[in-house]
Amino acid sequence: MNTISIELNVNGRDWQLSVAPNEMLLNVLRERLHYTGTKYGCGIGECSACTVLMDDTPVLSCQILAVQCVGKKIVTIEGLAEGQESHPMQDAFIEEGAVQCGFCTPAMVLTAAALVKEKPDPENQDIRDALRGNFCRCTGYVKILKAVQSGARKMRELS
Ligand code: FES
Ligand code: FES
Repeated sequence: MNTISIELNVNGRDWQLSVAPNEMLLNVLRERLHYTGTKYGCGIGECSACTVLMDDTPVLSCQILAVQCVGKKIVTIEGLAEGQESHPMQDAFIEEGAVQCGFCTPAMVLTAAALVKEKPDPENQDIRDALRGNFCRCTGYVKILKAVQSGARKMRELS
């Protein structure tokens, strides 16, 4: 198959890549750039495990072609932290015990961080709406809700 040369900005770094026209962002992130924090769950847009941020908005990387991401800023869970400092939302998920197997966690954290950036003091319903598509097979969601509220408080304190 023909390939296309593109430049992708991922986690603040520009990458020169040669991709197939039908290659999904998820594949590029995991298989080529080795950002394996982005999870392959269903591959059909049903679970949100593959969520990354595109220009600060959560998107499903299994549903977006890599060529559609040219000129955008992509952030994966590996790029959310500031250097060695974890992001407050990551800390909150750990402190509240909102992580079990962890498969859904990168997507949850990224989506929650994007929500709080947009809406610093979210209601529980805002959090439920933002995370509606994010499936967790382990936690039952109560601790996740608490973690997002705690993460929001931490983010407000730092702003
Ligand atoms: S892997 Fe993308 S939505 Fe499930
Ligand atoms: S912690 Fe296991 S799927 Fe959410």
